[in-house]
Amino acid sequence: MKPPWRLAGTLIPAMAFLACVSPGSWEPCAEVVPNITYDCMERNLYKIPSSIPSSVKHLDLSFNPLRFLASQSFSPFPELQVLDLSRCEIQRIEDDAYWGLDYLSTLILTGNPIQNLAPGAFSGLLSLQKLVTVEINLSSLENFPIGHLRTLKELNMAHNLINSFKLPEYFSNLTNLEYLDLSNNNIQNIYCKDLHVLHDTFNLSLDLSLNPINFIQPCAFNRMRLRELTLRSNFDNTDVMKTCIQGLAGLEVHKLVLGEFKNERYMKEFDKSALEGLCSINITEFRLAFLDDFPKDISGFFDCLVNVSAVSLVNLNLHSLEGLPKDLKWQSLELIKCKINQFPKLVLPSLKRYVFTANRGADSFVKVELENLEFLDLSSNGMSFKSCCDQDDWKTTSLKYLDLSFNDAITMGSNFLGLELLEYLDFQHSTLKQASQFSVFLSLSKLLYLDISYTHTEVAFHGIFSGLVSLQVLKMAGNSFKDNTLSSIFTDLTNLTFLDLSKCQLEHVSQGVFSSLSSLQFLNMSYNNFILLDALSFQPLHLLQVLDCSFNKIESFEGQELQHFPSSLTTLNLTRNAFDCSCKHQSFLQWIKDQRQLLVGAEQLQCMMPLDMKNMSVLSFRNSTCQITKIVIAVTVVSVVVVSVIACLVYKFYFHLMLLAGCKKYGRGESTYDAFVIYSSQDDDWVRNELVKNLEEGVPSFRLCLHYRDFIPGVAIAANIIQEGFHKSRKVIVVVSQHFIQSRWCIFEYEIAQTWQFLSSHAGIIFIVLQKLEKSLLRQQVELYRLLNRNTYLEWEDNVLGRHIFWRRLRKALMDGKSPEGTGDLENSHEEMTSLT
Ligand SMILES: *[C@@H]1O[C@H](CO)[C@@H](O)[C@H](O)[C@H]1NC(C)=O
Ligand SMILES: *[C@@H]1O[C@H](CO)[C@@H](O)[C@H](O)[C@H]1NC(C)=O
Ligand SMILES: *[C@@H]1O[C@H](CO)[C@@H](O)[C@H](O)[C@H]1NC(C)=O
Ligand SMILES: *[C@@H]1O[C@H](CO)[C@@H](O)[C@H](O)[C@H]1NC(C)=O
Ligand SMILES: *[C@@H]1O[C@H](CO)[C@@H](O)[C@H](O)[C@H]1NC(C)=O
Ligand SMILES: *[C@@H]1O[C@H](CO)[C@@H](O)[C@H](O)[C@H]1NC(C)=O
Ligand SMILES: *[C@@H]1O[C@H](CO)[C@@H](O)[C@H](O)[C@H]1NC(C)=O
Ligand SMILES: *[C@@H]1O[C@H](CO)[C@@H](O)[C@H](O)[C@H]1NC(C)=O
Ligand SMILES: *[C@@H]1O[C@H](CO)[C@@H](O)[C@H](O)[C@H]1NC(C)=O
Ligand SMILES: *[C@@H]1O[C@H](CO)[C@@H](O)[C@H](O)[C@H]1NC(C)=O
Repeated sequence: MKPPWRLAGTLIPAMAFLACVSPGSWEPCAEVVPNITYDCMERNLYKIPSSIPSSVKHLDLSFNPLRFLASQSFSPFPELQVLDLSRCEIQRIEDDAYWGLDYLSTLILTGNPIQNLAPGAFSGLLSLQKLVTVEINLSSLENFPIGHLRTLKELNMAHNLINSFKLPEYFSNLTNLEYLDLSNNNIQNIYCKDLHVLHDTFNLSLDLSLNPINFIQPCAFNRMRLRELTLRSNFDNTDVMKTCIQGLAGLEVHKLVLGEFKNERYMKEFDKSALEGLCSINITEFRLAFLDDFPKDISGFFDCLVNVSAVSLVNLNLHSLEGLPKDLKWQSLELIKCKINQFPKLVLPSLKRYVFTANRGADSFVKVELENLEFLDLSSNGMSFKSCCDQDDWKTTSLKYLDLSFNDAITMGSNFLGLELLEYLDFQHSTLKQASQFSVFLSLSKLLYLDISYTHTEVAFHGIFSGLVSLQVLKMAGNSFKDNTLSSIFTDLTNLTFLDLSKCQLEHVSQGVFSSLSSLQFLNMSYNNFILLDALSFQPLHLLQVLDCSFNKIESFEGQELQHFPSSLTTLNLTRNAFDCSCKHQSFLQWIKDQRQLLVGAEQLQCMMPLDMKNMSVLSFRNSTCQITKIVIAVTVVSVVVVSVIACLVYKFYFHLMLLAGCKKYGRGESTYDAFVIYSSQDDDWVRNELVKNLEEGVPSFRLCLHYRDFIPGVAIAANIIQEGFHKSRKVIVVVSQHFIQSRWCIFEYEIAQTWQFLSSHAGIIFIVLQKLEKSLLRQQVELYRLLNRNTYLEWEDNVLGRHIFWRRLRKALMDGKSPEGTGDLENSHEEMTSLT
């Protein structure tokens, strides 16, 4: 065992080392934006880390056990604008804790159990606009030391223990306050004097939701003006609600919000009398939300709201709108998720804005009379529409905004006659019928925005967008085109700046499609099936900035025209295509490398072809490989051409060459004739017209010994044959035919029987077989049969190729003066030769 002092000797430096490493040098916070934004959330910090640069503007220190804030805790960070100290277990905040934070605009102290707040805790903070003191165990507004924060706009004190609504004197200093949230406290009574510090200059939105209010003194809000008052989930029952609302008498409020919260509470037997008190309040906008137990009969319910200009009813169990008062002055009505059974037959001449959305109870549109309607949102109802759309449907000619998205089938029956003022039109995710059968949008010359995405439209008709001369945005993703070809449907859209054609199964772009789109800045053609795109198509798009061609099957762009790509382009997305990285697309691939600053994720572009480049980055394509390949190909091609030309020439002039080079002995020597021809007189025609013609008149020419021409008259045939034929000729050509066997050969045999000896040993005998021979017949001529069997022979074929081969072989055989085997090695192609067996 080591002695203790030696153990200490090793431990102490190690601990010193650890001490150096752990607190100071290791980085506790995440750098979100360098020098600006740091996230130190939940790092178990006991003190504010010193490693954060002094230039930090946004600092998140939430969920750290800081426990208390000493004076000048944040002086190293004078630039701070946003400081989040949520749930830092802070119990004590000393004077001047935020000293020096002159630019701090947002301070969040949520969830700290503050027990000891020094009177000067918030001193300084010259620019503070938003203070969040939610859930800080605050029991009273009195003595909360914020009276000097004149710049404060938003004060959120929700979720505390405050039980008195009396706004202390210091609120009179907070003249910029716009939003005060006291929700979820313990306020039960509101008295007349509580709000007296607020005077006319205030433009305050006040949220008192989730306080158990049961009494409001009727003078409390008299002659008060508020921007907004929210009272949700405040009243235990309709009676309390009724008296409390009466207590609001004399209030002038721009927007009043009543109701409950989703899944929060269930207010039973909500009664129309609850809202009686609203008659003595001056309200401009009214909103009611989340009431499950809404009365079936709503007559009388809205009587005190006839002069309101905007009504918003959200998540009410409303069922129907039967029994609305007649003389409503509403200009805006929102009915959202109200479980209404039928599309309400509204007659509301004052209405300008109507939102009827997400009401899944109704199933088809009904004509309504809203003469002054400008804004109509009927989205997300799953309803069908028999014949859309014209002035008659809503009796308005002022409509500018129409949203029919996320519905069921909408059948286009009319082209928006009387609705010429429309500027915005949205049909997305509804099923459009007959939209591509006539020029549906013909009268909409003021339309700026059109969305027909995912409407199951098959574009077949060229005039589908006729008349849309002002259109700026066209979204038509998720549809289809006839023949999967983008045809010239955009001719009128000269002001278009945004075009979405993604997910349209497109394969081709026909010529001149984009020629009228000179204002286009954004074009999305992603998720289609393009294989080859022509850069020339994009040439007219002088202002194009963003082009998205990702998720296609593009192998390449047409190479030559790449310089026609609009020079205005700033973003080109070509990811997820099937690039062909072979040399034939070399110019395109080089272009990609040159334009990489335009390309989204240039590094991720992958080759699909050829196989040896698969999954490799397009940027790794090397031009030089193509150079080498090109040279190799060029050399190969040239050599092949040269060799074949030479071969042709040699083939053609073989015999001339033989003559010139003298490489084969071609001399007649003492022979007068090149060949003596033995044939039947029946084959005379063939010999004269074919044999003589070809051999004596061709190049090189051969001299033949023919009995009819060359035999000396008067001499015996046998003698002639022997003298003139055999002795004066280098070779003997025997023309074998049926006739020859039958007649001539017998005579021959008879006449020169004695010369057989000579004949069979004679080397230069060439057999030409004119016709197929009957074997049995041939066998009778034992000697000839033997000869033919021993020697290969030439067979006459009366067709172009056959003749050609025949003459070449015959000439070759004739030139071969030396070969002891005679015709045995005529040509190397033995397959062409036949052997009789
Ligand atoms: C951050 O601040 C330091 C010191 O002021 C400076 O050297 C550095 O360049 C800054 N970094 C950035 C990204 O601004
Ligand atoms: C909140 O404050 C009360 C006194 O006002 C105190 O008794 C209680 O312990 C505090 N709660 C917390 C969580 O600090
Ligand atoms: C209101 O502001 C003035 C000037 O800043 C200050 O003197 C006064 O004490 C503030 N009032 C309260 C109640 O804090
Ligand atoms: C009143 O406050 C609201 C925000 O609550 C703001 O939009 C509006 O401009 C303010 N009005 C005036 C007159 O200051
Ligand atoms: C309601 O308040 C507005 C705005 O202050 C005012 O013009 C209007 O006359 C008031 N209406 C009533 C009925 O007091
Ligand atoms: C609505 O305004 C008219 C006059 O503009 C007035 O006579 C009527 O009492 C008002 N109704 C309500 C409920 O405020
Ligand atoms: C097209 O846009 C230009 C400029 O924004 C505008 O002057 C012109 O009136 C528009 N054309 C049509 C037909 O709306
Ligand atoms: C193009 O459309 C696709 C799918 O419709 C979408 O994911 C993509 O973000 C769009 N491109 C751009 C540049 O907005
Ligand atoms: C293509 O890149 C752009 C720019 O980064 C991006 O907005 C767009 O969503 C991308 N397209 C797709 C289909 O992801
Ligand atoms: C290419 O990548 C895909 C998906 O990343 C993979 O499935 C495939 O096997 C790869 N092919 C080659 C040749 O590496």
